[in-house]
Order: sequence, then structure tokens, then C-alpha cells
Amino acid sequence: MIYLGIESSCDETAAAVVEERGGRLYVRSNIVASQIETHRLYGGVVPEIASRAHTEAISRVVREALTEAEITPADLSAVGVTAHPGLIGALLVGVNFAKGFAAAYDLPLVPVDHIRAHIAAAYVTGDTGEMPQPPFLALAVSGGHTSLYAVDEDRNFTPVCATRDDAIGESFDKIGRMIGIPYPAGAGFDHLAAEGFIRATGESDVRVAYRRFPKCAAYKSRVYDLPSPALEDGTADFSFSGLKTAAINLLHRFEQTGAEFDRAVFAAAYTYRAVEAVARQVGRMLEKYPSRALVVAGGVAANSHLRARLAEVCAAANVALHIPPLSLCGDNGVMVAAEAYFAYLAGVCAGDDLNASAADGI
Ligand code: KG4
Ligand code: ZN
Repeated sequence: MIYLGIESSCDETAAAVVEERGGRLYVRSNIVASQIETHRLYGGVVPEIASRAHTEAISRVVREALTEAEITPADLSAVGVTAHPGLIGALLVGVNFAKGFAAAYDLPLVPVDHIRAHIAAAYVTGDTGEMPQPPFLALAVSGGHTSLYAVDEDRNFTPVCATRDDAIGESFDKIGRMIGIPYPAGAGFDHLAAEGFIRATGESDVRVAYRRFPKCAAYKSRVYDLPSPALEDGTADFSFSGLKTAAINLLHRFEQTGAEFDRAVFAAAYTYRAVEAVARQVGRMLEKYPSRALVVAGGVAANSHLRARLAEVCAAANVALHIPPLSLCGDNGVMVAAEAYFAYLAGVCAGDDLNASAADGI
């Protein structure tokens, strides 16, 4: 069984071919046309520009995915496409292209949820890796999501908790922009924070530095101290707007007083609070929901500090941790093709009246 996956929900036009053999999933091709350079000029994604760029790129990206996989459309079993959630104009480009493609080659059309697709990337293990065993918890951390789901044997997703306001990736992007990291700021923030952990503690190993960070002078003096984003009302949700506002106030204070500002230590302080909030919540939920594994996906799953902390949380809870390789953490077509495989097996197939939706679909 060979699946084509098409993704256009945000700022990457992506297509990929994934092959299923004996219940394992293999990447045959993975083409991503990123629009980041275009949106960087504006400090964030401009929806209208995104839609136009998807329209320009999509035919080429799909053609390249088929060529690199050395297949023709006749070899495909189905076409998967991200139908929700995302920017509506951007989603419509992929959905309409997929509808035309499926009709032209008489293929089943499988609408896919973007968040489920991010999680499905963890199943694309090739010959070597272990596939996640349900029941498991799935953490989606991206520019638009900070959500935890309980996933059962039938791949039903039950929402456990979600952010009430900003997503963690969005908060990295916004605060990163304020300290001069170009959009999208996540990866730059990650590196800068590593530098900050090391500088603030004097430790050479970044993981040791992270652990020692709350005890270091720069932090204990409260100059770079930020509030924990944990909600005190007993609910399981996340919230990043309070942390973000406190960070903005801290930056303003530095600006007003003209005090010497160490942006790396600041990035470390912000990262520490954001990562600890997620790690603590995941730890609690692993106790509450009997799970064999934690699957982490979405662009922020690339964050080295979050990855390391979640590895500790999973080890303490005695559950397996599955994080897709860096190449499959951001938006891509492989995850869409993988989710299309599971959805198609479960009988999901759309007619030619398929529409896109900006709203969450899980
Ligand atoms: O999943 P994704 O590619 O697109 C969405 O569906 O949102 O995630 C993009 C987000 C951006 O906010 C980006 O800054 C963040 O993922 N990101 C990171 C890292 N790499 C990308 N955030 C933290 N650390 C990283 N290393
Ligand atoms: Zn995404």
C-alpha cells in the first residue's frame, strides 16, 4: 500500500509518499517547500500570502514527491490531505488539489486532521524503530497547539488538556521576535537558551546546567525570574499568556532602566518556565491515565530542552517516549500520508464535496 500525503495548513507546502509493508511505514519521499523566508519579512505568517504561495508550489511539490519515490499516480492506494485545522485559505489549496488529483487518477481521497497527522509521524519508523503502543498520551506542541490527548487501542483521541490561550510555539515566536530572533524563533530560542543555561550556571554540560539553573545567582536574584505558567485552579489545562506578559514586562523594565541585559539568560529563564510547565502537566497526566507511552509531536517537539525533560518524566513514569526525528517534527507530507493510512484502514474516505475547516477537528 502506497500513500500520497499533501499538507498546506500553514506555511509549508508539503507532499510525501509513504509505503506500508507488513504493518510498518517507510518514507519513500518527503518534499517540503517552506515559505518561511517570505513570511519572515512580516514577523509571522500572512494568511493571504500563504495561500498564494501554496498555489504556486503545490503542483511542483507533488510532482517531485512522486518522482523521488519513483512511482506514478497509478501505484498509489490513496491520497491523504490535511483538511483541518489551519489557515482556511491555505488548507483549501491542498484540499482542492487533492480532490482534483484523486478524481483524475480515480483514487480514494482521505481527509486528515493536522494534529493527528503530527502524532502519526511517530509511527513512521522504517525497519528499526519501535511503534507507539496504545494506550498512550499524545502531546501536540506546535505554533498553534499545546494539547494532550489520551489515545486508545482504536486510535480514538480523547482531549485531556489544552492551552487556554497561546500555544507554546507561538509564545516562543512572539518573545523571540522581541529579543531579535527571526521568525520562526523556536530553533533560535532553543540554541540561545542552551547558551544561557551554560553561562548562568558556569556548567559546561547543558543538561546539568538546566537542572542547576533555578539555583543559580542570575535566577535567584529574580532579575530574570518569571512566573510559573501553571494554572492554580486545579484544572489540567496549560496557559502561556501570563508567562508571555510577564516576559514582556521584564523586557520593558530592562529597556527603561538601561540595565545590562543578557538575552541568552533571559531565553533560558523563559524556556525553563515553559518546559517545566509542560513536563509537570505531562507527568501528572501519566499518573492519571494508564499509558504505555508518550508520543510528542509538532514543531516544538524539536526543542532540545523539552525533549530532555520529557525523557526524564517518561523514565520516572516507566513509559516509552516516542518523538519523531527532527525532519518529521515540523509540518510535512509524511505525517499526512501516515495518518491517511490509519484513517483509510478505519474506513475514512471523502466524497468530492470535501471541504476544509479552520477549526480543530479531533
Ligand atoms: O508544527 P509546526 O511546524 O507548525 C504548526 O503546525 O504550527 O510548528 C511550528 C512551531 C513554531 O512556533 C516554531 O517556532 C516552533 O514550532 N519550533 C520550535 C523549535 N523548532 C520549531 N520551538 C522550540 N524549539 C525548537 N527547536
Ligand atoms: Zn503543524
